[in-house]
Amino acid sequence: MNSERDFVLHSWCVPAEWNAPTVIGGRGARLLLEDGRELLDMSSLVECSNLGHQHPRLVSAIRDQARRLSFVTSAWGAEPRRTLAQRLLELSGFEGGLVFFTLGGADANENAVRIARLASGKARGLIVTRDRSYHGASYMDMALSGDARTAHQVDAESWGVRHVPPPYSYRCPFASRSPHDCGDKAAAAVADCIDTEGANSVAAVLMESNAGSNGIVAPDSYWPLLRELTRERGVLLIADEVMSAFGRCGEWFAWQRHGEQGRPDIMTLAKGLTGAAVPLGAVVMSAAIARRIEHQMFYGGLTYSGHPLSCAAGLAALDAYRDENLIERSRRLGASLFEELRKLQSRHAVIGEVRGGHGLFAVIELVADPVTRAPLAPWPQQSDQQRALLRAALDEGVSFGSRGNLLIIAPPLVIDEGDLAAALALLDRLLGRFFPSPRTEQIK
Ligand SMILES: Cc1ncc(COP(=O)(O)O)c(C=O)c1O
Repeated sequence: MNSERDFVLHSWCVPAEWNAPTVIGGRGARLLLEDGRELLDMSSLVECSNLGHQHPRLVSAIRDQARRLSFVTSAWGAEPRRTLAQRLLELSGFEGGLVFFTLGGADANENAVRIARLASGKARGLIVTRDRSYHGASYMDMALSGDARTAHQVDAESWGVRHVPPPYSYRCPFASRSPHDCGDKAAAAVADCIDTEGANSVAAVLMESNAGSNGIVAPDSYWPLLRELTRERGVLLIADEVMSAFGRCGEWFAWQRHGEQGRPDIMTLAKGLTGAAVPLGAVVMSAAIARRIEHQMFYGGLTYSGHPLSCAAGLAALDAYRDENLIERSRRLGASLFEELRKLQSRHAVIGEVRGGHGLFAVIELVADPVTRAPLAPWPQQSDQQRALLRAALDEGVSFGSRGNLLIIAPPLVIDEGDLAAALALLDRLLGRFFPSPRTEQIK
């Protein structure tokens, strides 16, 4: 049989080395492979299949909508688009605001920047983002991202982007020993950056409200501080909720764990918005932003903005999250997942830190030495041992998410509790096999 490698250029790979499973179906947290095997999906593929695979409600919503109306130009009205926008505004408490639909996360972030510049009257206003963040792979998004994988492709400054250090307390860029202090210093760096550039030149701060691809979970005080310092300076706050929303971090939107003190001016969504059944992204803006742009020309658009099939899937996804209590389930299972991973840390010296505790999203950082915190491989590379561990897990029917030295545990919110326990037991066994150095020191 020919390999797909012969015909398709895949995402994020060296084409000649592509060697990934081919999936032909799925159910719940399981994927069915072409060779007849099943895989337990411990990463919701790329942290997007929050509702598991082939959720029946999504499948029928797409089928029913296709029968009624598959497409209408984005310049005209479409019923599922209107209803979905209304539901998103209600859910986020942004009543009176507006939603601009996109096809995914990257274009949601680009359009959020466009809207922030329009609403702030700072047509070329600077955007402040973090090092080690990821906001998408278009050129504007590579500039917004502080990601080592893409930084060389773009000159961020020329895109009007300024990067600040992240609240990465395990390797604090400010040499702080306490997470709280590291978060405070990282927030102060945002304030410094705005003050140095001049608040009149800065349109927005755009950041992930919880860890994303680069696995940094900010101390809880960080996001409310960002909100306060941006408001004081008349700078908009954009929450990139592409990965963190729809239960992934135990809330509909991760900023909600801070209540009103965490409310951004604009948030971007994608991934879990349709449970990844069809592509859809969104920019959700507050009533204040909507009023500011109401009488201005919006020079932006996408042929498939608010595609009826995608919006119908979005509505079905919102119903499924609500009716199956998945936000609450994620919070509950996420708390016990975090505890279990801390137990793994007490047994395996290779686990430097476990981050998470908010929903079914946890990050394990592997290190060569837990005392010096020497990385297993220089970021964003990956050690041969880690690659071997991931391959062995796949051979045993479990797919774990991973980037650089990180293992990312983010299964579909519908995962069976027995399957989750079995996957963690496998991880325990494989850590012992590939990194056979039991921990002797206490967890710090
Ligand atoms: C936080 C965050 N923002 C934006 C994106 C880009 O989304 P997309 O791949 O749909 O363009 C991603 C994708 O992983 C993400 O994790």
